[in-house]
Amino acid sequence: MRISAVGQQEVMKATRPEMGEMELQGVHEYVYKKYGAEFEGYPSIVGAGGNACILHYTENDKPQVKNDLLLMDCGAEYHGYTADVTRTIPPSGKFSPAQRQIYELVLAAQEAGFAACKPGNEFQAPNKAAQQVVAEGLLRLGIIKKPEEARKYFPHGTSHYLGLDVHDSGTYGPLRAGSVITVEPGIYIPEGSPCDKKWWNIGVRIEDDVLITTMGYENLSREAPRTVAEVESLMAKPSALDDFTLPALK
Ligand code: GLY
Ligand code: MN
Ligand code: MN
Repeated sequence: MRISAVGQQEVMKATRPEMGEMELQGVHEYVYKKYGAEFEGYPSIVGAGGNACILHYTENDKPQVKNDLLLMDCGAEYHGYTADVTRTIPPSGKFSPAQRQIYELVLAAQEAGFAACKPGNEFQAPNKAAQQVVAEGLLRLGIIKKPEEARKYFPHGTSHYLGLDVHDSGTYGPLRAGSVITVEPGIYIPEGSPCDKKWWNIGVRIEDDVLITTMGYENLSREAPRTVAEVESLMAKPSALDDFTLPALK
């Protein structure tokens, strides 16, 4: 988890609007290799704007991410075990007001999900808590009119087991100390959605890997910045790739 979190950190520093999705995927995967991680746990998802709204997008071929929100769901596999970490960042280094409102809502949903990570709670408890926060927030922002419409923009659950496989097997019974699960709420508003155009092409997911403990949980991917202030502050820092250029190939 720490390898994947450092990958997210390095990409936050390196990202520029003129960089491509595949190039940024390469930065994550370079960090994994530098730490000796043998594989990616699953095909990396690096998508900007409309591509961030496609759940299993893996083409990663937009040549410039521009200023659209960039969703990066990437996980290193190290000695057989995989991480599964998603961060969503503004390539310009600053969230626009609309991007920020959706991001803060997903963050609040994830916090609600974390709070439900306690041994004995039903497996669906983090998901239910996050779904409720998203539905209330989308209503408040005027993006939906009825709570049940929230599923349109948050069409997946928050949690699965994680281990030897990215979607590992498990009982899906009450949470138990020692299990590792994800907490990954998201909101995806593709172009053409029945809401104000200012929300179109915003896709946000924030995903962390959580160890259930006897007391509650430990966030194993916490070294990847999550809050708006943390993300913007890290993105303003220099990157080792700032002066990395290659010859043009004709
Ligand atoms: N990366 C796959 C998932 O988040 O479940
Ligand atoms: Mn996941
Ligand atoms: Mn993921």
